[in-house]
Amino acid sequence: MPNNKLNPDTLNTLEALWKLEKIILDSLDFHDVVQKVVDAILTELGYLDLGYKVVVLALVDEERQVLKRVSLSSTLEAQKTREVSELPFELIVIPLTEKNNLCIKALQEGTVQITHYFPDILTPPISPENALASQKNAGIITSMVYPLKIRGKTIGVMIFSMNKAEDAVSDQEKALLRYFTDLVAMAVQNSRLYSNLENERSQLKFLNDRLEQLDKLKDDFLSVASHELRTPMTIIKSYLWMLNSGKAGELLPKQKEYLYKAVSSTERMIALINDMLNVSRMEQGRVVFDIKRLDIVDLLKETLSDFKLKAEEKGIYLEICCEDKQIFAYTDSGKLTEIITNLVGNSLKFTRSGGIKVQIEEDENNVKVSVIDTGAGISEEDQKRLFHKFGRLDNSYQTVAESGGTGLGLYIVKLYVEGMKGTVRAYSEGINMGSTFTFTLPKELKTN
Ligand SMILES: Nc1ncnc2c1ncn2[C@@H]1O[C@H](COP(=O)(O)OP(=O)(O)OP(=O)(O)O)[C@@H](O)[C@H]1O
Ligand SMILES: [Mg+2]
Repeated sequence: MPNNKLNPDTLNTLEALWKLEKIILDSLDFHDVVQKVVDAILTELGYLDLGYKVVVLALVDEERQVLKRVSLSSTLEAQKTREVSELPFELIVIPLTEKNNLCIKALQEGTVQITHYFPDILTPPISPENALASQKNAGIITSMVYPLKIRGKTIGVMIFSMNKAEDAVSDQEKALLRYFTDLVAMAVQNSRLYSNLENERSQLKFLNDRLEQLDKLKDDFLSVASHELRTPMTIIKSYLWMLNSGKAGELLPKQKEYLYKAVSSTERMIALINDMLNVSRMEQGRVVFDIKRLDIVDLLKETLSDFKLKAEEKGIYLEICCEDKQIFAYTDSGKLTEIITNLVGNSLKFTRSGGIKVQIEEDENNVKVSVIDTGAGISEEDQKRLFHKFGRLDNSYQTVAESGGTGLGLYIVKLYVEGMKGTVRAYSEGINMGSTFTFTLPKELKTN
């Protein structure tokens, strides 16, 4: 009949391991784990009574190619070794190339090393005399160095120092130490991975917070700078305008030409400053919408009249459908003017022949306004990049005579349309196939 009973030694070993496992694997914090591994076997399993007095964990530092002391048991004897040591515990670092140190030997050969001579495990960096003084002070007779192996790699060693001779170490003790050190290797590796992850996470969080701060700083800067720039720019513009209109005396044709260029650049600059101000106000939630039920056709006709001349100059048409109708929706007239100015302004910029049509339709819930042009069009890929801040596409197929533009126009359009509870979309069949920008405005007042 087979003997199913475990022998009592095996059972004890298993129980001891199970207990240690629970203690050690309970924590994932690296510092917590490394301290627990050096203390648990002494306190929890009573190895202190078996003569084990000092337990040390040392790990390989791959970057520096050294074996570094990481934790020391909280025993009286450990304290005694420290008292006389010429180096603080944390500075006991052994180069991996060291030939005569047993810790390095255990590491490289992956085998247990035993010594009665402390300098074997401490020299260098500690002098043999000082190592012997430590040994004497703590009353250590034997030290056993166990390699810590995980997945075929040795990541460090554990040193068990005791006040008894090697032949007083039982087989069961040795077996338990072997299993125990395997467990330690696993726990250390896990907690190291976890702590790295945690570090990375907190570093990411730190960087993210910093980015948010910088973003806010940038918004504040933009808002102040553009506000402060607007006043002097407006003053410059009015003086230029006065000069141009002959209020300070007749100008020569060349002077007029230069002045005209100065005025239009100033206008562009003011438009850009206004855009930046609008964006920063929107983003800070400082824009108030004055929503009223208005005749959209009427409003658009008025806005488009400003563009008629420009379209004529370019030799393209600019039409609005349903001129004789009245179509009502809820909107802020100033914001709607800006939306149309941006969309029609873009169409004018990117259309060389043909022209632009503004279409107004309505369904049960919404009024739908479309600005349809026969211009450069937008490739499918580029369509995804529209409506973002500073979203100029800068594509060769869109090269336009008028330089300038910051790519804020469509972003503002989207912010405004959505602020008025509508949606905006762009369509284009492709390059040189024209573009259509469509947005909606609600026919009923929406409060949220
Ligand atoms: N009607 C259109 N036809 C072709 N491309 C367009 C049209 N409207 C917009 N785009 C593309 O989308 C980009 C972003 O437009 P947006 O109005 O945001 O910026 P912008 O006109 O370049 O500069 P800004 O409006 O700030 O002066 C444009 O640079 C252009 O590449
Ligand atoms: Mg634009």
